[in-house]
Amino acid sequence: MCGIVGYIGTGSAKEIVLSGLKNLEYRGYDSAGIAINKKGKLLLRKESGELENLIAKTRKAEFDGNMGIGHTRWATHGSPIRENAHPHLSADGRIAIVHNGIIENYIELKNMLIKDHGIEFRSETDSEVIAQLIGVLYEGNLLDAVRAAVSRMRGAYAVGIICSEDPDTIIAVRKDAPLIAGIGEGCNYLASDIPAVLSYTRDIYVIENGEIVVITKDDIKIYDEDMTRIGREVMRVTWDATAADKGEYEDFMKKEIFEQPDGVRKTLGRRLTNDGEIKLDGIKLSKEEIDNIDRIYIVACGTAAHAGIQGVTLFEKFAKIPAEMDIASEFRYRNPLVNERTLCVCISQSGETSDTLEALREAKRKGARILSICNVVGSSVARESDDVMFTEAGPEIAVASTKAYTTQLVCLYLIALYMGRKKGTVPDEKYASLIAELRQTPDKIKEVLKTEKQIEKLAEQFYIKEQIFYIGRGMDVGTALEASLKLKEITYINSFAIGAGELKHGTIALVRNGTLFFVLATQDKLYEKMLSNIEEIKARKAHVVSIAKKGNSRVAKVSDEVIYIPECADDVTPLIAIVPMQLLAYHMAKLLKRNIDKPRNLAKSVTVE
Ligand code: AGP
Repeated sequence: MCGIVGYIGTGSAKEIVLSGLKNLEYRGYDSAGIAINKKGKLLLRKESGELENLIAKTRKAEFDGNMGIGHTRWATHGSPIRENAHPHLSADGRIAIVHNGIIENYIELKNMLIKDHGIEFRSETDSEVIAQLIGVLYEGNLLDAVRAAVSRMRGAYAVGIICSEDPDTIIAVRKDAPLIAGIGEGCNYLASDIPAVLSYTRDIYVIENGEIVVITKDDIKIYDEDMTRIGREVMRVTWDATAADKGEYEDFMKKEIFEQPDGVRKTLGRRLTNDGEIKLDGIKLSKEEIDNIDRIYIVACGTAAHAGIQGVTLFEKFAKIPAEMDIASEFRYRNPLVNERTLCVCISQSGETSDTLEALREAKRKGARILSICNVVGSSVARESDDVMFTEAGPEIAVASTKAYTTQLVCLYLIALYMGRKKGTVPDEKYASLIAELRQTPDKIKEVLKTEKQIEKLAEQFYIKEQIFYIGRGMDVGTALEASLKLKEITYINSFAIGAGELKHGTIALVRNGTLFFVLATQDKLYEKMLSNIEEIKARKAHVVSIAKKGNSRVAKVSDEVIYIPECADDVTPLIAIVPMQLLAYHMAKLLKRNIDKPRNLAKSVTVE
């Protein structure tokens, strides 16, 4: 998804903006550009493809200036060609803008600009209308022109704006797209995301919806829509810049898979007291409020939605509250039965996913209490929620989510158990044994990571397959769905996940000699049923790789291969069984020479609908 960077100060804007864009690469992009204000003249360069192309084209000293904006674009309106890359210029060349988001009424604005002002558009993008609109409204005061333009724009946007005639100011506006300002010494920064500025500053302002920011080298002023100055607290970023480095690993995805024992331990650690009680810092639900909840809707997208599927089981089992998992993009349009007694649980790694954010707002409008599970402090989802529980995963850079998933699961266990404990619906013994099981999961994940060599061998056997099925029952259904998504995302192999009992209702028609199945068989109470499912597909000559707990040897007799995970309670298997599946997808993608951290057509944070 697009990324924005801006810099104003005494250093080289080109170097700083380009390095910021490099740190936003994980958002995904297909073209990039910068605009530098040099002595009252805007110098513009844009290139399609890798950032390196842009870096190569801006090597010359003519691009040296102390103020500039830059952008990495992920095509939505218009193909990823140089003309459609940002920054966009106004017709008179005085205004340059970078934009993240979508201008919904751009056709209307474009027609008006063509008809009333004779503007000739140079790109197919919605974003160019912002530059042209500000251009025609500009009468010597950039801030006035930006405010007038914003009042006519509908949609979602984070926009950075510079003007050749105002070499001392960058202006930015935000609505429903992330934006931060970084505080430097004798310089200041603008960006879509914290990692862009982390090499330069740890002090940031999170910009809120509807706000306008005026940035000079010595000051950052934040205003609301009515131009009332806002005093914003400085947020000090505590996580390490090296957390966004690959370190000794070849890819971020591999690093993040191996960081899971640590992430799970940290996410648990902060919330579990020595005597096993759960303390939820960001969640203020009292016993009365929990008793009042009569329904839980979990809303999320992609991997976070798969964590949500497990959440349904956990909330119903431990808190005894009816729960449903809704894909956020559907929830927001289907008029769900939400009221003051509804708890809406939003799960989002980035906290900026547009569909999840809109689902959250829809639930809020209808009176629900919003509890979020999020990985990014200061993100929109976190800020707009009543209660937030942060995953302690550290920045997740690879597009394919791994450590965010397992830490989201940990949060769901803790919240469901906390609610159950308050309600008195989890017997003491069951509670104590689950807490003990949860405490052991980091070590069990570590044990699974040690089987990497075996998994690599399986990857060598299967990476040429064109189609792969994943089946499971109970909590293994969510694991199967997540495993299948991981494979699809990074290998581009067609894969399909389904509850094993559902196979015979249609999908079994696809099974023939050599069809590959990954069978999740980790649920003791459903083990026999899974063995029957394996027999069923083996009878049709499928190739079966089962994932089972150590000690369950019967599965080996009916399967072609078995990946064993350590013994554990059925309830916590989702935390452990997904790990070999992540590794398998990773190694298959490696053999296929895929761009693992940045798979085609995907972006890390999907801030458009
Ligand atoms: C995960 O591997 C995906 N890239 C994607 O499904 C992701 O989980 C989804 O877009 C939701 O993102 P979020 O957690 O940041 O809201």
